[in-house]
Amino acid sequence: MNSTQEQLRFKFQQALFAAFGADYAEVDPMLVSASNPKFGDYQSNIALSLAKQLGQAPRAIAQQIVQQLDLNEICEPPEVAGAGFINLTLKPAYLEAQLSAIQTGERLGIAVVKEPKREVVDFSSPNIAKEMHVGHLRSTIIGDCIARILEFRGHDVLRLNHIGDWGTQFGMLIAYLREAYPDALITANALDLGDLVAFYRKAKQRFDEDEVFRETARQEVVKLQAGVEDTRRAWQLLCEQSRREFKVIYDLLDVHLIERGESFYNPLLAAVVEDLDKKGLLVEDAGAKCVFLEGFTNKEGQPLPLIVQKTDGGYNYATTDLAALRYRIEQDCAERIIYITDAGQANHFAQVFQVARRAEWIPNDVELVHVPFGLVLGEDGKKFKTRSGDTVRLRDLLDEAIARARADLESRLKEEGRSETEDFINHVAQVIGISAVKYADLSQNRTSNYIFSYDKMLALQGNTAPYMLYAYARIQGISRKGDINFKQLGDDAKVYLQHETELILAKHLLQLSEVITSVEQDLLPNRLCEYLFHLSQKFNLFYDRDRGVPVLTAEEPQRTSRLVLCDLTARTLKLGLSLLGIPTLERM
Ligand code: ARG
Repeated sequence: MNSTQEQLRFKFQQALFAAFGADYAEVDPMLVSASNPKFGDYQSNIALSLAKQLGQAPRAIAQQIVQQLDLNEICEPPEVAGAGFINLTLKPAYLEAQLSAIQTGERLGIAVVKEPKREVVDFSSPNIAKEMHVGHLRSTIIGDCIARILEFRGHDVLRLNHIGDWGTQFGMLIAYLREAYPDALITANALDLGDLVAFYRKAKQRFDEDEVFRETARQEVVKLQAGVEDTRRAWQLLCEQSRREFKVIYDLLDVHLIERGESFYNPLLAAVVEDLDKKGLLVEDAGAKCVFLEGFTNKEGQPLPLIVQKTDGGYNYATTDLAALRYRIEQDCAERIIYITDAGQANHFAQVFQVARRAEWIPNDVELVHVPFGLVLGEDGKKFKTRSGDTVRLRDLLDEAIARARADLESRLKEEGRSETEDFINHVAQVIGISAVKYADLSQNRTSNYIFSYDKMLALQGNTAPYMLYAYARIQGISRKGDINFKQLGDDAKVYLQHETELILAKHLLQLSEVITSVEQDLLPNRLCEYLFHLSQKFNLFYDRDRGVPVLTAEEPQRTSRLVLCDLTARTLKLGLSLLGIPTLERM
């Protein structure tokens, strides 16, 4: 089904063609949602933008367009207002028909794209033996949401976890492993490294204070790269240990990724450097091989180099990303590659993309997108830390959210005099806790920093997950109370829109597809959150005892019609939340 905006756009283009000729048939009619419901539902600013080109007053242009507009089935007669805006108000009969149409399908009227794309989403990507920090949490949550939306639209999505599992730090770690846990290399499962980060710290300490150890560590790097058997096994042990820790987080978050770490591209790095050389881009500068960048300069105004091979022959983070780009285009057939990292890596990606383009590795129809996000701050506005000043472990952070959700729930149950099973409490607390963390992250414009506050994200009021989950559960409560099976309302159940709050809710329900398309393009999940927040608010208004309408006690045919609106709201919430990676609760 085409969204209302698409239908309107089509009608406008027909009118533009009729009024001003074929040159104008493809012009964007500049349709936006009306800023104030007083002026209707949509507004077109096209007449103002054509004034110069046509040499006529905007109002006159607007009049000519309106004369040609055939919107009888969709809108009330269009109105020309102000300087030449065209205001449109949707007809209740149109809304009723649209709602009946989306009601029958699982997808609620959201079309599958006509030309699915092969999309790589590179997200989460923590580093072995280093802390998986809050930045990785953001990448994981945002990346999963974007992947879910693209998948739902029918794209062929490859979710890649570009884990930092390669590099010189492994020499140090392996050398330390041999020293401190030699058994681990001979006996399977002899190793319980516990906190790998503490292990890393100790290895680093040895590295800093002991010259002999440093040399051993260097040798281990060489052996690792050469594929020497027991060095590789040591490396694998370290990776598996980290993987187990990551898995706990991914399971809690219900996020699925394909692991393809930096090590995967190791055999392809030499060819990257060779090919850059062949293309005439490689310059040797003080022993390092690099490409001089366009548009990136140092303080003296000299072009900056991107080093792809260091003096000691080692490769860089950027070299790996260049190899990964080539692999993803050639082998994975990617048409769009999306990287989700903190904004601090914007330059890194701009530089890598530039070099890849100049090397002619990027076909014209392949799009490279860096999706940056801001920092997570503590309530003091500074970098998010524990009270003692340490980095917050993600596991602790999620556990704390669940524990607080549980405490809230238990006090609510007490207040309401309810008793629930232990299973119920565990499940609800887990869903609310995790959802609150995810939603708090997704509901911010990702490019800005945000303040992490358990109190705010767990609040039952406001733009929070619990508020949305509660709206959903409340609707399921209506079906329980009235003993109504929403699924059996029937495809022929008719919708009648009379009351103001019914119209407002109906219009909002029909905007889901516009919102999803916009998130698909701009990769801003906060738009979907905002949509769902407003949906919950509009539902609550519709269901409000004083300002809304009765549902279960209404007469037919209103009763069925309103139940359809309830059901559609619930299904829209469920679908929208699922695209954010948030499950719903029937009761809470
Ligand atoms: N491991 C990196 C980090 O922790 C993120 C990797 C992002 N993806 C990439 N292809 N560079 O910062």
